Formats: sequence, structure tokens, C-alpha cells
Amino acid sequence: MKILFIGDIFGKAGRDALKKVLPELMKKEKTDFVFANAENAAGGKGITPEIAKEIFSYGVDGITLGDHVFDRKEVVPLLEDKRIVRPLNLPPGNPGRGVSFFEKNELRVALVSLLGRTFIDRVLDCPFQVISKQEFDIPTVVDMHAETTSEKIAMKWFLAGKVSALIGTHTHIQTNDEEIVSGTAYITDCGMTGPYDSVIGVDKNVILKRFLTGFPARFEPARGDVRFCGVIFEIQGTQATHIKKINIKM
Ligand SMILES: [Fe+2]
Ligand SMILES: [Fe+2]
Repeated sequence: MKILFIGDIFGKAGRDALKKVLPELMKKEKTDFVFANAENAAGGKGITPEIAKEIFSYGVDGITLGDHVFDRKEVVPLLEDKRIVRPLNLPPGNPGRGVSFFEKNELRVALVSLLGRTFIDRVLDCPFQVISKQEFDIPTVVDMHAETTSEKIAMKWFLAGKVSALIGTHTHIQTNDEEIVSGTAYITDCGMTGPYDSVIGVDKNVILKRFLTGFPARFEPARGDVRFCGVIFEIQGTQATHIKKINIKM
């Protein structure tokens, strides 16, 4: 089976890129499933039921989230939707699910979200301990949403040969290290779908002002140099055989 995983959809610019690129790309690549990280889809922070509906309407089957999971209060009822996967290692007592199953044309795949702990300011259980309790008897795609390359690469060695794909998100810059390791498709970051005339999606002047003065200027999503980023990988049985990067300029 062929799966497209789309990197962090950022704001309206990212959603517009999705609308423009996805239907044709799905046809051209004959993808069986499309998953997308959409934790920044609502103005760069979080997701709402309306925006999730829009993203699904373009052809996305399943959405993963990350550290921005609870940025919008409206997300809580949305987390009941089986197509929405929030980090599995949020402590017990949180709403939503960290693993979900997708079926189409007799194909079955599991989608998991994990959130790294290094430089992530959230109460979290250990992603390594939590994922080690899972069984991987069907093709499994894991979104490893983390700040550091080291934590993502450590998870690569931890899950190599166990899951079908381990796809990095959160840092919004596509890395050049896609590979197949013992049947696991891996990339440290599959890139952002959104505006690159920015600092990881946010208006660059706002962020420059913050770095230069420490003044807490208002967060504004950028709009320019929009790109569609992600990876496409193929799975036979539960083992990945190919992975390639997607990076399309609008
Ligand atoms: Fe993100
Ligand atoms: Fe994130």
C-alpha cells in the first residue's frame, strides 16, 4: 500500500496549498491513505472542528496533532472523532485517542502520534515506554512529533523493524535523511505545508522582534512562499520498501 504523510499544515496558507495540491497528487501517486499533521491548521495554533472538516474534504483520511493539541478549546469534542489522533503519551485522563485504525479497500493501517519530551513544555509520559506497550501486528504509521533530532533518531532505532513508518514532524523544516531501516520508513522531519517566507510559519518580523528585544509581540501567521511538504512511502505486508520526499512550491 502507498501512503502520503503531509507535514504540519500551517494556517490558511497551508490549507489552501492542501486544496490545490492534494486531489491531483493522490490521483498521480495512487495513494491508498493520506495522513496529515494538522496541529497548526487553525491560524498556526491548534485545530477546530470546522477546519478538520475542511481538511478531510480535500482527501485526508487521518489527522495527527502535537504539542498544540489543546490550543483551541473547541478541539475537545473533535477528539471523539476516530480520524483524529492526539499524542499517545499524554497522561491518562486526557480526552481523545493516541492510536486509531483506518480501513479502505480491504487494507488496514494503524496511525499513532507520539510527542517528544525534550524542550517540549507539557506534562507527558515517556514516549519510549508508552510505545513499547503497543502491539504492531498490522502496518503502523507513527508520527514522532518532537523538537530534537536526537530524540527522533533515538526513536528510529527503538522502533526500527517494529513499525512500518516513523515520520518526524514539529520542526517544520524538511530534512534530507529519508531512509528505510529494517523495514521502517523514516525521516527526521517531513516538512511544513505552509508559508516559508516566515520563521516556521509565523510572520518573520514578529519573531525577529522577539529575538532582538524579548518583547512578546502578537503571533501572526505568514502568507508568502507557500509549499506543500510531506513524504510518500510504500508498505508490503508490514514492511516499508520505499520512501520519497514531496516538496512542492505553489
Ligand atoms: Fe507544527
Ligand atoms: Fe508542534
